[in-house]
Amino acid sequence: MAKTKTAFFCQNCGTQYAKWVGQCSSCKQWNTVVEEVVQKEDKKSWNTDSSPSSKSNKPLKIADITSNSEVRINTLNQEFNRVLGGGLVPGSLTLLGGEPGIGKSTLLLQIALQLPLKTLYVSGEESQKQIKMRADRILPDAEHCYVLTETKTQSIFQQVSQLVPDLVIIDSIQTLHSDYIESAAGSISQIRECTAELIKFAKESNTPVILVGHITKDGTIAGPKILEHMVDTVLQFEGDRNYVYRILRALKNRFGSTSELGIYEMQGSGLREVNNPSEVLISKNEEALSGMAIAATVEGMRPLLIEIQALVSTAVYGTPQRSATGFNAKRLNMLLAVLEKRAGFKLGAKDVFINITGGISVDDPAIDLAVVGAILSSNVDIAVAKNSCFAAEVGLAGEIRPVQRVDQRILEAEKLGFSKIFVSKNSKISLKQPKIEVIKIGKVEELVKQLFG
Ligand code: TYD
Ligand code: MG
Repeated sequence: MAKTKTAFFCQNCGTQYAKWVGQCSSCKQWNTVVEEVVQKEDKKSWNTDSSPSSKSNKPLKIADITSNSEVRINTLNQEFNRVLGGGLVPGSLTLLGGEPGIGKSTLLLQIALQLPLKTLYVSGEESQKQIKMRADRILPDAEHCYVLTETKTQSIFQQVSQLVPDLVIIDSIQTLHSDYIESAAGSISQIRECTAELIKFAKESNTPVILVGHITKDGTIAGPKILEHMVDTVLQFEGDRNYVYRILRALKNRFGSTSELGIYEMQGSGLREVNNPSEVLISKNEEALSGMAIAATVEGMRPLLIEIQALVSTAVYGTPQRSATGFNAKRLNMLLAVLEKRAGFKLGAKDVFINITGGISVDDPAIDLAVVGAILSSNVDIAVAKNSCFAAEVGLAGEIRPVQRVDQRILEAEKLGFSKIFVSKNSKISLKQPKIEVIKIGKVEELVKQLFG
């Protein structure tokens, strides 16, 4: 029998060491380095015929390689397709990460149930009965979906070679273990080995594989960073568990852009695709309330109107509080300093709270002007007119700066029935004659005049 080989791995970042160390020199965490068995014995490929490379691999001229880029598997889930860049690519490995309970298993089971192709849903976390109960709520009579509860990769491949599915879903990579590695499921070397076996399977059989990956407390996908390098696409499913909206984004995509975004609503019967997010993110109050402003942002290629709420009140304790939900707190402090210095608002002794409704977080600088509008409105307790919205960045000198894709934002605002949009005076607008009134401003002071006379 071959000698067992061991190495030391940081459980936080996956850095490999030849001997034990107390602190990982890469991620600076203490006591995270653990000894793991690297390789037990000579390894076979997933496919038991173990000729090293069955295909004859020769260099080819790039012009002679036939591309099958058009062949994408339509998942019948428009938001999922959009984030992937048009559908699943055959032979690709996709990793879906997200906090526990956010809806990863629900999303993938839903895709498996909807797909009119043979899918295999492998779960190491739930029993077949539990999955059936969940499936009954989502789509009771799906015909092509098979469920397997198994955690050993070799057994999974055995079943796969009999069933020959068109899509394999693994929930989750942290529960898998391979016989060729001795360490426990979920350890760095197991994750790496199982992923490598799955990649080999996906590429050789041209079957797409979707993996669920758990994330750690600080929000990164558990397991080595190398996992993210190995797979073709990394998707993140996020949202506030207290809200019903969930956002799917691509962090890495070898076959499309990473700027696309999918929005879902969690319902009793699974995840509903939200095709028109602007309508759900804006509350439908009859009367205008002070401290509210609508921002026209762009997420990926999609314009999105969101509601910013601000509350400015006299600080009760010595140090005023500044808190922002869904918006960068440092940016909030900067905007407050600009308002204090350039527009003469004494906000230094006031508590300021900012909230983006719907539990989503936005880092588009174009929402600056709406944040400023909401703060000013709450401060003077006068509502911003209900039919106005904002799309501009605010600079340190109090200047209103133009933002990209302003035409798209104006069109979306117009579509949703707004009658005024505030933009920078330097914005390059190529729209001919928008029905909406476009108000161009150059400085924060002008905004105050425009809003409150
Ligand atoms: P789940 O997919 O198990 O999360 P993950 O796999 O990311 O850990 O989602 C669990 C949550 O989703 C759970 O709190 C209940 C909720 N849920 C619904 O609201 N409606 C449904 O139809 C389903 C299946 C789940
Ligand atoms: Mg799950």
